[in-house]
Amino acid sequence: MTPRNGLHIGMSLAPTWLSGEGWRRPDSRVETLFGSDFALDIARRSEAAHLDFVFRPDVSCVVADALESGSGFTSLDPTLLLAALTRGTSRIGLVTTISTTFFPPYLVARQLQSLNWLSQGRVGWNIVTALQGHENFGLAAMPSAEERYARAAEFTEVVQRLWRSFPQQALLIDRANGRYADPAQVQAIAHEGDFHKVQGPLNLPEQGARIPLIQAGASDSGRDFAARVADIVFAPTPDQEAAAELRRDLSRRAERHGRNAADIRLLPGLSLFLAGTREEARELFMATHARVDVARKHASIKQMTGLDLATWPSDRRIHASDLPPLQLQPGASRTHVGLLRRLIERESLLPSELLMRPEVLSAAHWQVIGTVDDAVDEIADWAEAGVMDGFIAAPGGSFGSVYRFLDEVVPRLVERGLFRARYQGSTFAEHLRRY
Ligand SMILES: Cc1cc2nc3c(=O)[nH]c(=O)nc-3n(C[C@H](O)[C@H](O)[C@H](O)COP(=O)(O)O)c2cc1C
Repeated sequence: MTPRNGLHIGMSLAPTWLSGEGWRRPDSRVETLFGSDFALDIARRSEAAHLDFVFRPDVSCVVADALESGSGFTSLDPTLLLAALTRGTSRIGLVTTISTTFFPPYLVARQLQSLNWLSQGRVGWNIVTALQGHENFGLAAMPSAEERYARAAEFTEVVQRLWRSFPQQALLIDRANGRYADPAQVQAIAHEGDFHKVQGPLNLPEQGARIPLIQAGASDSGRDFAARVADIVFAPTPDQEAAAELRRDLSRRAERHGRNAADIRLLPGLSLFLAGTREEARELFMATHARVDVARKHASIKQMTGLDLATWPSDRRIHASDLPPLQLQPGASRTHVGLLRRLIERESLLPSELLMRPEVLSAAHWQVIGTVDDAVDEIADWAEAGVMDGFIAAPGGSFGSVYRFLDEVVPRLVERGLFRARYQGSTFAEHLRRY
């Protein structure tokens, strides 16, 4: 494994701490979800802790069956929300999520470059191929995973070429000679590919700071796409072994594509339920998941693995041999299906135990339920094992987990020499340098 450097840490603005029953707490501020104050508060605190970035995931449709019991993915447009944070912050990276399956690349190139100007070089783009929402964009069905990745590769290339099509040096602002710009340096891209036809150039210049790319999706084609273009892979790795395998594989693939292994950083999601004692943290976790919709979870397990737990005896353990052969349903994430099958194959769980595991309950992320000390020790252990390059914090249960993480866990990581004590640069790309 590559020797460890200083960690890179992102903070989810999802808001994960409102998931499950979290939004029902009197102090949840759930009413402020469709505004920018709560996101600004967390972005400012994250900046005070010198985090690399805040991160907003996104889905472009209503997940109707989840809406009655929680906010799910109903949200403001992530890029607009981050634009509202540009004036109240000055150093922290702002990572938005935009799907390559639904939007025209010219629009996306323009939005991201606009946000890069507004934030003075602090934008990152989380490239998702998305799993649902086709009906909102005139598509008869979700394209297959392979097609979505082929489209994503072309889309990303078009966006990057559009950014380069109007270099900043073309902007002369020469008052004396009356020359605003040099049109000779502003060149069309004349792209005609399998999925997109875009003439260009983009109608605004490049800001100057490189826009780092984040990719989420760890199937074979997802890994290959990431290895070609991504600075960061955001991945669900529930244990060190999963992270080590993914990090090793991404490094190898990056080198095959002519990049350095260090150019691609693995940042697992880290779900944090933090409290003063382990018992309180466990209570917070259990209270957050008190109303697990068992029927919905059964339906999801069935959709992902073919295993029908609706009539499964509660005292009968589930073994690897119970798994039907793999048959991917449309709309399934191969990454998450793989992780769920892996869990069932490795541990013979009772149905009630399976339902409470991250692979079923949340997005299969690495998870700490405990005290600040527990979180610091666990993060140090993963860092010393060299299985990741940092993580994206997803605090759960209540704002308490957010504050404990930023005010207590991060300073302890600094004390241990695992995280920066101050920013060395002011753009997102600069934060991602090895330190
Ligand atoms: C950790 C993780 C986070 C993701 N976040 C989003 C998201 O915010 N919005 C979205 O539309 N899709 C999201 N996806 C879905 C991916 O973009 C992709 O469509 C899906 O994982 C299928 O790719 P795969 O076959 O490589 O797993 C996410 C996937 C993973 C693994």
